[in-house]
Amino acid sequence: MNKIKTIKILVIDDEPYIRESIKGFLEDYSYRVIDAENGQKGLEYFEQESPDLVFCDLRMPRMDGLEVLSKIVKISPDTPVIIISGVGNIADTVEALRLGAWDYIIKPLQDMTVLLHSIEKSLERAALIKEKEIYRKDLEALNARLLNSLDNLEKTKDKLVQSEKMAALGGLVAGVAHEINTPVGIAITAASFIKDKTSNVQELYTAGNLKKSDLESYLKNMGEVSNSIFINMERAASLIKSFKQIAVDQSVENKRRFNFKRYLQDVLISLKPAYRNTGCTVNIDCADDIEILSYPGAYSQIISNLVINSVVHGFPNKKNGEISFAISMSELSNEELTIRYKDNGEGMTQEQVSKVFEPFYTTMRGQGGTGLGMSIVYNIVTQTLGGTIECRSMPGVETEFLITVPLVVPDADSAHSKAFLKINYHV
Ligand SMILES: Nc1ncnc2c1ncn2[C@@H]1O[C@H](COP(=O)(O)OP(=O)(O)OP(=O)(O)O)[C@@H](O)[C@H]1O
Ligand SMILES: [Mg+2]
Repeated sequence: MNKIKTIKILVIDDEPYIRESIKGFLEDYSYRVIDAENGQKGLEYFEQESPDLVFCDLRMPRMDGLEVLSKIVKISPDTPVIIISGVGNIADTVEALRLGAWDYIIKPLQDMTVLLHSIEKSLERAALIKEKEIYRKDLEALNARLLNSLDNLEKTKDKLVQSEKMAALGGLVAGVAHEINTPVGIAITAASFIKDKTSNVQELYTAGNLKKSDLESYLKNMGEVSNSIFINMERAASLIKSFKQIAVDQSVENKRRFNFKRYLQDVLISLKPAYRNTGCTVNIDCADDIEILSYPGAYSQIISNLVINSVVHGFPNKKNGEISFAISMSELSNEELTIRYKDNGEGMTQEQVSKVFEPFYTTMRGQGGTGLGMSIVYNIVTQTLGGTIECRSMPGVETEFLITVPLVVPDADSAHSKAFLKINYHV
């Protein structure tokens, strides 16, 4: 009952008898009724009182019902307007419905309960429209929040990808330090040997006790040791050179021509500290003379992720695991390079295989895995290199990744550029 009392109805009709009878009838049902004797007044009241529903006659002097109706629809399209129409006024009634009237009743009113029915029906519909509008607004707000979260997620992902790159670079630096340590260590030992021997010879010489055999042995030692220093320093220099190139390749997306096998070997040396202790071996099956014009940094990222994953996920307990790279060119045309990577580690279940390229998928959460490694590899292969990558695995037996890369590599700035692969046939 309380609800009905608050409902305000505006009746616009030029016939006082109609207004009075509608007013009287509705007030008996606890509606609050305001009435207006012409269209102009009706509109004024409409704006002042904001009624919940309007009854409006069609034929009125000064401003007719259709005009009133279209003005109300413009001001408040969700307020129900019910037309009061004379018998035989069908054309105008149809026009009113077209303009936005919600319902109509026919004069003379014989059964006043028709009014109640029409009011109820219209108010119900208005409530539904309002509810729908609230849902729509809620949905819009929710959608905006979701878009915002998605945007934040994208930004976080970019940051993670960036930090993953930096971590790879950090690993590389550790690899460089480790590898260079050996030749530098040997050179230091050799240099200190030269220092000791030279000071011995010097003492003998100063004391006038230097024998011919002492000098001959010294010269022989010097020859061998200086040669060892030279070989080890040369090794260190060449390691520094290739590491420098890999580090630059990882941080800068530059395209250059390189020998695939040599580059693969250089990257594997940088990864040695990561797999040396597991006792696993890495075999490469690749022609010596495959040269490609591509993004070496991209290959370095792919190789690093594959090998580290084999070590971490494939051989967590296994000693003497085996990793193999088989590189080949498509036989029909020299337009595709295929990299078949395999390890004989623990393998993956069907579910793991289906998720391996998903960002953030990891079975090592909380133990250092971010789950971005293979999704980065997937993006590099499919986007940077324009190729495809597939994963197959048999739990307990092996894991295999098959990468196929067209030799037309997408360019960093222009859409595509022809990368080329050259094989020098030695006869
Ligand atoms: N060679 C493999 N052998 C067995 N499982 C693997 C191998 N490579 C990947 N996986 C599985 O796929 C998952 C996803 O690999 P991915 O490299 O994307 O993430 P991650 O190694 O767990 O973490 P991140 O590389 O970010 O440190 C791994 O958690 C692992 O379960
Ligand atoms: Mg990984």
